[in-house]
Amino acid sequence: MRRLEEAALDASTCTRCRLSQGRTQVVYGVGDPNADLMFIGEAPGFHEDKQGEPFVGAAGQLLNQLLSEIGISRQDVYINNVILCRPPGNRDPLPDELDACKPWLDERIAIIDPAVVVTLGNWATRYILGRQVSISRVRGQRFPWSSRTVIPTFHPAAVLHGGGQASNQMTALRADFQEIRAALAERPQPAEEQLGLF
Ligand code: URA
Repeated sequence: MRRLEEAALDASTCTRCRLSQGRTQVVYGVGDPNADLMFIGEAPGFHEDKQGEPFVGAAGQLLNQLLSEIGISRQDVYINNVILCRPPGNRDPLPDELDACKPWLDERIAIIDPAVVVTLGNWATRYILGRQVSISRVRGQRFPWSSRTVIPTFHPAAVLHGGGQASNQMTALRADFQEIRAALAERPQPAEEQLGLF
């Protein structure tokens, strides 16, 4: 398997779909290439497209805050999106754009090999679980997914638009981050894996 930097370099010139025509740059992902915890959002927005890094706007600030509340820093996780390029006007990605980007995401997941994958919002959750679920029904639950644990939660942007820090959604998001912390603490440790205990 190739290294993450090689995959990112390759993706930086991707023209597999029409989104390549309107982007400033490909927004590949950010964080620890060996992270045990990966976050998957929807698609880059205005700021992400300009800066080339996912979750750098208001939603990213909230994500950083939630991480720090459970004692984890942004540098220790890997953050990326289902789609590498900003859709015009932040519209929803189209089915053929999702299909075109899928091999890039599959490869990132295979290289980074996270134990816990957190899907942010309906889009990423449906995409990863492969089902038309509603985020309010599945959030905070653990789903086994090819030797990993998927935990869906609300998209931070939805919480910001839906009432902010004092809202019920924010309370739910905080509870889900506690679940993320618990799932990480319970993951098989490398030494245990080597001993064949898992
Ligand atoms: N929303 C997303 O889903 N991804 C980003 O990178 C920023 C905002």
